[in-house]
Amino acid sequence: MAEQGVDKGRRRFLTASTAIVGGIGGAFAAVPFVKSWTPSAKAQTAGAPVLTDISKLEMNARKIEMWRGKPVWIIRRSQEVLDALPSLDSRLRDPDSTNEEQTPEFAKNAYRSIRPEILVLEGVCTHLGCSPLYYPEMIPQGFDTEWKGGFYCPCHQSRFDSAGRVFQGVPAPSNLRVPPYHFVTDTLIEIGVKPAEGAAA
Ligand code: FES
Repeated sequence: MAEQGVDKGRRRFLTASTAIVGGIGGAFAAVPFVKSWTPSAKAQTAGAPVLTDISKLEMNARKIEMWRGKPVWIIRRSQEVLDALPSLDSRLRDPDSTNEEQTPEFAKNAYRSIRPEILVLEGVCTHLGCSPLYYPEMIPQGFDTEWKGGFYCPCHQSRFDSAGRVFQGVPAPSNLRVPPYHFVTDTLIEIGVKPAEGAAA
């Protein structure tokens, strides 16, 4: 009899525990999973990372995301654009991107990017903070007869090449900034988090 009493008590305890755990699980399941992938606008302004899908990004097209209240550009560059970059070095103020504030270690290469074809830049002019216009065509422009594609800030005529490197003789003092970012998958970029040390692109 005493043994039966113990068993009944244990059964009641286990039933109650299962119900509580089930209730907690149900509550989690009820929260839309997508919420954890899309921080609120307030959180984004405060610096929460932003995920961006580049699977539909076309050649030489630009996608704009907002991170910490600033526009971040994601651009898929053609091989022709990449091949032209070294030919511009002699016209640039800091062709090797020596300014660490503007170019983090993971982007210190000829393309200023983790993957050569995908450029990620803060779209904020280093002169007075305007957002430059994007001129991807490699054809002469009114502001540069030897234009090989890049960015032009019309308010004070600063120019940057297709890696965001600033030209000589313009008011902007430094290259456009590369923000922290990394590839979560082949087609998903997280802006606001730098790559883990030693991580492959
Ligand atoms: S803000 Fe870009 S040139 Fe002045």
